[in-house]
Amino acid sequence: MATAAGGSLAAQVTVAGGFGFIGAALYTTNQLAEQIAIARSVLGGAGNTPLKIGVGFLGWVLDENEEEGRKAIKVTLDSGVVGIWFAFGNDLYKWVEVVRKHDVENGKRTLIFVQFGLLEDVRIAVQDWKVDVIVAQGAEAGGHGFGAAPALKTLLPSVLSITPKDGPIVVGAGGITTGKQIADILSLGATGVAIGTRFCLTPESVYPEAAKQAIIAATSDASVRSVGFDQVAGYLKWPKGIDGRALRNDSLDGFEKGEDIEVLRSKYKEAYLRSDTSRIMVWAGASVGLMNEIKPAKELVEELWRECLASGQQTPSLLLSDEFKTSRDTIDDSVLSMPLRSVHEESLLQPTAKEAELNTTNSFSLPNPNHSGANLNGGGNTTGWLLSLGSLKLLANSLDPSQRSNYPITEPQRNVITVAVAQAQAELERLHGTQSTPGETEGTYRLRLALQDFIHEHEALLSWS
Ligand SMILES: Cc1cc2nc3c(=O)[nH]c(=O)nc-3n(C[C@H](O)[C@H](O)[C@H](O)COP(=O)(O)O)c2cc1C
Repeated sequence: MATAAGGSLAAQVTVAGGFGFIGAALYTTNQLAEQIAIARSVLGGAGNTPLKIGVGFLGWVLDENEEEGRKAIKVTLDSGVVGIWFAFGNDLYKWVEVVRKHDVENGKRTLIFVQFGLLEDVRIAVQDWKVDVIVAQGAEAGGHGFGAAPALKTLLPSVLSITPKDGPIVVGAGGITTGKQIADILSLGATGVAIGTRFCLTPESVYPEAAKQAIIAATSDASVRSVGFDQVAGYLKWPKGIDGRALRNDSLDGFEKGEDIEVLRSKYKEAYLRSDTSRIMVWAGASVGLMNEIKPAKELVEELWRECLASGQQTPSLLLSDEFKTSRDTIDDSVLSMPLRSVHEESLLQPTAKEAELNTTNSFSLPNPNHSGANLNGGGNTTGWLLSLGSLKLLANSLDPSQRSNYPITEPQRNVITVAVAQAQAELERLHGTQSTPGETEGTYRLRLALQDFIHEHEALLSWS
């Protein structure tokens, strides 16, 4: 998040088990290097050893001064940053190639995130760009976005439907501010979520104090999408189709009433000097009405995880559902509805008629924490695993194995994944092991393959420490 996320915020999100980003757009290359150094001082490690944060760049800003853009990317990668995020440019692929070239020259693989709100853009990135993560940005998102983007819960299933199993992972963004919303988005098939506005309300965020207070005071109808914000502020170089979501204020009201744009701009400039939020832009997402206090980023991430788990989703079931997301089209619907749905304890103890029926056919039985034998609540990081699974798996693929000891798997994470693997193995046994049986359905066949993949990938993660 440009103007809000520097090295301190990014590092604290990572410390808590998430994956923090610095928003590079408005920093000079030297300022960016300083912010990366701040993150390094928090996260430790020497020189260019992997630094588990990302840096986000705006494509159109890089295009403005290509030489400086290349320098900023090189400084970022040479400092060990493991992820790069690109958005809002007319030729983002050019910058993806800059990163990949640097990777080849330096024998590593950087995680590349690209953010889109339109399906056509996603399709090209998935097919041709070989990026690692697609951030599906719904219309609820704070800051700049795609004027024609649908709401996140509409966009996400479409993005997942065109993303192959061996393609990038998909992360949802836009209006997410509670753990319950996170669980909701994960249950739709996203591997993770990207949250912006809520993290503006942290002491580590460099968002101006007046903007933080305006978000706290904002009611649920205060955040609106418009091209008017950029018009008044004079930010006119954003690519076609991009507008912004911010808090309604006198600048936007004046723009909508057709007041003289030059007068509005001059009032804006004066207000800027006073940090007067009645005229300056406070970029903020549709969930502003749900947030009302500043709290440390680490505490916030931990709270979101707790809420996510408490919302009724059981961790192993979500881990499994994530694995199944790309096989969804080919597996029988009745089978898939089991691991993908929200699991409540009552239904675990007392199977419904439908579950009983499915359990005697080819269904995937529900994980039961009461019978698992492992302590799923054994530590604060249990839920951390839930959200960071995607980034850990990506890191596992991208890191030199000798570097993996920098990212140890915690005991609670190990417990959760052990339970999930054991459940998958038991289920595979129930399907008569790895061999196909005569006359088995396409659904069973696919389920068998998915289970084998799941076990293989997760055993590999267990051996990582
Ligand atoms: C203050 C602010 C700055 C942002 N800056 C950027 C940016 O530089 N690059 C980008 O791709 N997205 C940026 N975004 C959008 C986020 O990437 C993300 O899509 C959005 O914050 C998600 O919605 P939420 O704010 O409702 O959580 C920004 C958002 C905010 C609120």
